[in-house]
Order: sequence, then structure tokens, then C-alpha cells
Amino acid sequence: MDLFRIKSVERSIEETDEPEHRLKKELSAWDLTVFGVGVMVGTGIFVLTGEQAYANAGPAIVISFILAGITCGLAALCYAEFASTVPVAGSAYTFSYATLGELVAWIIGWDLVLELALGAAVVARGWSAYLQSLFDLPTWLAGDEASPDFGAIAIVLGLTLVGVLGTKLSGRITSVLVVIKVAVVTFVIVAGLFYIKTKNYQPFIPDSKPTEGGSGLDSTLLQTVFGVDPTVFGVYGIIAAASVVFFAFIGFDIVATSAEETKNPQRDVPRGILGSLAIVTVLYAAVAFVVTGMLKYSDDRMNTAAPLAEAFSANGLDWASKIISVGAVAGLTTVVLVLMLGQARVLFAMSRDGLLPVGLAKVHPRFGTPYRITIITGAFVAVLAGFVPLSELSKLVSIGTLFAFVVVSAGVIILRRTRSDLHRPFRVPAVPLVPILSIAACFWLMVNLSVETWVRFLIWLAIGFLLYFTYGYRRSRLGRGESQVKADGDVPRAE
Ligand code: ALA
Repeated sequence: MDLFRIKSVERSIEETDEPEHRLKKELSAWDLTVFGVGVMVGTGIFVLTGEQAYANAGPAIVISFILAGITCGLAALCYAEFASTVPVAGSAYTFSYATLGELVAWIIGWDLVLELALGAAVVARGWSAYLQSLFDLPTWLAGDEASPDFGAIAIVLGLTLVGVLGTKLSGRITSVLVVIKVAVVTFVIVAGLFYIKTKNYQPFIPDSKPTEGGSGLDSTLLQTVFGVDPTVFGVYGIIAAASVVFFAFIGFDIVATSAEETKNPQRDVPRGILGSLAIVTVLYAAVAFVVTGMLKYSDDRMNTAAPLAEAFSANGLDWASKIISVGAVAGLTTVVLVLMLGQARVLFAMSRDGLLPVGLAKVHPRFGTPYRITIITGAFVAVLAGFVPLSELSKLVSIGTLFAFVVVSAGVIILRRTRSDLHRPFRVPAVPLVPILSIAACFWLMVNLSVETWVRFLIWLAIGFLLYFTYGYRRSRLGRGESQVKADGDVPRAE
């Protein structure tokens, strides 16, 4: 059994040119940067900032954001090298196929469902809640015990249609909404500066104290392994908060999934990834600093679904909280859209390779989008967002993403050895040091997630292995020695 068969970089690039599977190349570095900012600025900054300052880090939440940003920066360098060398849809999945082989590639593709589809569902829920509060809609519209979350279902289905109609259209909508949300975030920073009270920063790092009632499956893997009693605040709290606010950075890697639709991917994908990450890191640190200066971290209003808006209301600026809610609704829309587009691109790449049914990889003759897989993705995300209780599952999004970062970082070291001949328009500096630091930082954040999250994650991976051995292994185009797919999308029989 050849579980580690490798799909060469040349072959990956060649297959993007098959007429049935050719995506339109329309995106520029600017589009990608906007995409990156569009997918990153969302629930993380609009919700988690307050929650984690309140529960884990105090004003030092700024440091948590910077730590998470640095971790992502290290991984981003690795993604940039890969995307410039292998500009093919599928991102971490495609990179793994070229380095670590088919089994790892499949499991990464499977793992990315946690980041992309589950992430989209989690954020769609947040969108629905913000919309409901902005317009004082009946609460049942945003889902309660008796009804599904209609708001979340509506936004997911609406954005699925946009995804089918065209990548450029998605790009245009994203651009407009990104301008609105960046304007609102900038407003928070600039207007908020005038309401900072320095006493709110004391203590900057609150003293560590034991967690109330947190034990067993709730404690982090690290604490469980070393038998440490769970604590909050202090230096440890800053790191625990970093592993949660990491969610705010999720998405820059999706820029890499658009490589195949970029006019000049070798140059533009690294620019889009690193540029968008730099922009949001600065914005996040500034927002966290301002908000914890406006409202004491221990104030209960920090621990709500809308801490940014609350910080302004607490300073007598109710009108400002409406503006922030508009920014959140606009902001979360683009996050859902780009996460779903990313999911469709990864599944597209997996179908094109035969690890999922090849017919799913058909591109729409007129719109040039992978419409079948986009519709399936939309339906799946709509069900998740509408009907499944997600609050417990949302940490799976972070662990899934961190796992992909670990594999991509390892992949850079491996591909440098196995294919030193490849042209690398963008090169990670100081290999293997930078990828090793990236692996260590991601792993560190992973072990700071709860045991419960780890258990769920391992169950998800186990299901993935099962599917690979029952379907993907036998149907793989690489395994069957095929290179072309017939025009109707059927898989030709292996000789
Ligand atoms: N980074 C995205 C957000 O914070 C997923 O909503």
C-alpha cells in the first residue's frame, strides 16, 4: 500500500490547466490583501477581545494578540513560500500532497473542514446575533431552543449564491464591506483614545488565580499532562488567551487557496498574505489597548457578545455602539463569504485529485467557479449554522487551523530538501530555524487548548482516516496513474 505517494509540483500545476477544471485568473495583490483583511477581522476582534480580557488576561490581552500575531507571522512566511512555489488551489492540502504524500494531504484537507466550514458556521451565528440586536428583530430569528437560526441560514445561502456567480463578484462585495469594517475598527481606535483612563490598566497583568470550577476536560492539555491546577490571569493567562484570540487571525492562509485564481501568484500571493497579516496585527493590538483602557477588564460588560460597543456605551456614547454593530455585521459577512470560498477551493482540489468524487470538481462554463462544490459547501455550512449547537465546537476551528500550520511549516523544510531545484520566488528566511519556530509556537498554542477540544479533534481525524481507506485511497487519480479527466467529469477507468 503506497500511502505516501507524492503528487509532484509540476503535475499539480499542469492539472490546473485542464479545460474542465480551469479557474479564472482575475485577482491582484490588492484583491488578496483585501481578501485577507476581509476574512480575518471578525468575531475574534469584535467579541473575543472583551471575553478574554475579562476571563484570562486583563489589559495584557494586547500581549496575547501580539503573541498570536507573531505565531501567525511565522506560519505566514511558510505559506508564502509554498504558495509562490505551488500556485494551485487547495493551500495546505496541495502543499502536503507535494511533500508529505497523499495520506497526510487527505487528512489535512479533512482537517481544513474544521477551519473553513465550521469556522464559517460559527461566524454566521455571530452575524445573525449582531443583526438581531442591531435591528431589534424577534429573538427567535437568531435561533433559540425551539427554532433554528434563520439569520445564519439566510446569510450562508445568500453568500453561497454569490460564490457561484463569480470570484470577481465575491471580491467586489468583499472590497466594499472591508472598507466599512476597517473604517469602523479605525473609528474604535481613534475615538476610543479620548476615553482611555490610565487607572484601567492597573494591574496590567492581573495576578494569577485558580480557575473556578474548571477541571478535567475543561483544563488545557498542558495542565493535564503536567498535573497543574488550572489558573487564569498571570503570565499563563496571557498565553491561554493567545490560543483563544488566535481565532482572530484565522483566514490569512485562505489567501493561499486563491493562488490559482491570481494573475501573478508568485509575486502577489506572498504580498497578500503578509500584507493583510501585518495590517490586522496592528489593528488588533490597537483595539485591544484602547478597549481595555476605556472599560476596566473586570467589568461584566466586557464579558458580553458586544464588548466593543459596550465600552463606548459605558462612556456615554450609545450612538457609537450602533456604528460598531454596523461594522460587525459588515465585517462578519465577509468572514463567512471568504471562509466558504476557501472551503470550496480546498474540496475542489481534493475532488480534482479523485480523493472525493471527481464530478464535484466541475467548473461552471459561464461563471468559471467550482459551482457544484460551492453549493454543497453552502448547504453543509447552512445546516451546521442553523441547527447544530456550536459554542462548544468553536475551539475546534482553532485546533484544526493550528494543525494545518504545523504541517505546512514542516513541509517547507521537507520540500527544500527533496526539491531544492524548484524555483522559489519567495523564500522563508533562515530555514530550518523559522519553520521550526513556527511549528513550536503553533504546537504551544495547541497544547493550551482544552482536553475536550483535543478529544473532539482526534475523533474528527479518526473519521477522516476511515474515509480515506474506504474511498480516497482507491479512487485517487494519482494512485490510478491518471492525468486527464474526461470532459463530462467522469473518471476514466484505470488501465
Ligand atoms: N478571523 C475570523 C474571525 O475572527 C475567523 O471571525
